[in-house]
Amino acid sequence: MNVLHLDASILGDHSVSRQLTQQIVEALRLGTADLTVIHRDLVADPVPVSDGALLAARGTPADARSTAQQALVAQADTAIAQLFAADLLVIGAPMYNFSIPSQLKAWIDLISVAGVTFRYGPNGAEGLLTGRRAVVVATAGGQHAGKPSGIAHADYLKLLLNFLGVQDVRVVTAEGLAMGPAVREPALAAARAQIAALA
Ligand SMILES: Cc1cc2nc3c(=O)[nH]c(=O)nc-3n(C[C@H](O)[C@H](O)[C@H](O)COP(=O)(O)O)c2cc1C
Repeated sequence: MNVLHLDASILGDHSVSRQLTQQIVEALRLGTADLTVIHRDLVADPVPVSDGALLAARGTPADARSTAQQALVAQADTAIAQLFAADLLVIGAPMYNFSIPSQLKAWIDLISVAGVTFRYGPNGAEGLLTGRRAVVVATAGGQHAGKPSGIAHADYLKLLLNFLGVQDVRVVTAEGLAMGPAVREPALAAARAQIAALA
C-alpha cells in the first residue's frame, strides 16, 4: 500500500495534528507488510503557489520552457504524481482562522487540475482519483464539528476530496485543544481512540 502523508501545522513538535498523523502512519507500518510512505511536510518544504507564472509555464511547450518554468512544472507534476501513486492519503489539517493552513491550500490548488484530477462532462463534475481513501486529522483550539464555523475546515476538505473522486474520507477530530485540560485531554484520548478504531 502506498501512503501519502501530508502535514501542514506551523507548530512543529508542539503540533497535535502532526502527532496524530504520525500515530496513524505508525499503526499502518505495524499492520501492513508492504507499505510505502511519502511524507510531505508542506511547511518545511512548501509547494509553489498556483499563480500566473505556473499557468504561463504550463501553457508554454515543454521544449520552450525556461529553466525556472521547467522547475515549476516539475514541482507541480511531482505533487500530482505522488497523489496518483497513493492508495491512502493521511492529511494533518489544523484549523487556522476557521479554515485550513495556507500551505495545505497551496497543495490543493496545485493538485486540483481540470482534465487531470477532475473533469467536467455532460453529467457534471467527475473526480479522477477514484479508488483512493483518505484520513483527515482535523485539529482546532475551539469546537467546530457540525457547526457553521467548521464549514471551511474539515467539511471543506471532505467536499474537496469527494469532488476529486476520493469517496472514502474518514475524519479524526481533536477539538477544543485550547479550552484547558478538562476539554483537551478527553479530546486527545477520543482522537487516539478514533485512530485505533480505523485500524
Ligand atoms: C495561526 C493560528 C490560527 C488559529 N485559528 C484558529 C481558529 O480559527 N479556530 C480555532 O478553533 N483554533 C484556531 N487555532 C488553534 C489551532 O487550531 C490549534 O492550536 C490546533 O492545535 C492546531 O493544530 P496543530 O497543533 O496541529 O498545529 C489557531 C492557531 C494558529 C497557530
